[in-house]
Amino acid sequence: MTNQIIGRGAEAIVESVRFCDINMLKKKRIEKRYREQALDSKLRMNRTKTEARILHKAKKVGVLCPVVYFIDKYEIYISKFKGKTLNKLKIKDDELEDMGKMLALLHSIDIIHSDYTRANVMRTTRGTAVIDFGLSYTSKRIEDKANDIVTLMQDLGVGSKKTGIVIKSYLTHGGNKDIIERAYDVLKRGRYQKN
Ligand SMILES: Nc1ncnc2c1ncn2[C@@H]1O[C@H](COP(=O)(O)OP(=O)(O)O)[C@@H](O)[C@H]1O
Ligand SMILES: [Mg+2]
Repeated sequence: MTNQIIGRGAEAIVESVRFCDINMLKKKRIEKRYREQALDSKLRMNRTKTEARILHKAKKVGVLCPVVYFIDKYEIYISKFKGKTLNKLKIKDDELEDMGKMLALLHSIDIIHSDYTRANVMRTTRGTAVIDFGLSYTSKRIEDKANDIVTLMQDLGVGSKKTGIVIKSYLTHGGNKDIIERAYDVLKRGRYQKN
């Protein structure tokens, strides 16, 4: 098994591995030394399980995302897309529409992505795919869904044409307008706090 590290974030190390003749990714949650060891171990195990479960649920509503091959204590083995994350490319309008549609689908089953930016959406040979559910959780709360919208707006530019396309698609695909309104409230509050 030859491993090649392709990502090292705050939460996890992502390695490209070949196993049983299949190229896949191994995503291992890293230790947080500032946490007590037993608690850290438990949190990492729970988060690993949650990520796998959420990836499975997301596919059931039609969101293209990695397949989970297997799951270990602190790591998941997932399928590898051929492609690039959208932050490395000039994003196209239909990809912005896909971003809105896929977030609406995730929210329809109460999945909060928690890091929904172009860095976690890929242009792949199979279409637009969502990755990195490492901080995801389930919640019905409008505030939590609105936070995904805020993250997205901050990534694409608040009030930009790109953001407009995503939001329109989000609403067309069943996203709730109360969530969008709440996102604007959050942004407004943030601005008042800074002044
Ligand atoms: N399923 C996947 N297929 C192809 N590349 C991936 C996949 N998952 C992650 N990557 C690549 O690895 C990088 C890091 O993975 P990611 O899950 O976003 O973790 P983090 O952002 O926490 O480092 C991504 O930016 C992407 O380039
Ligand atoms: Mg990422």
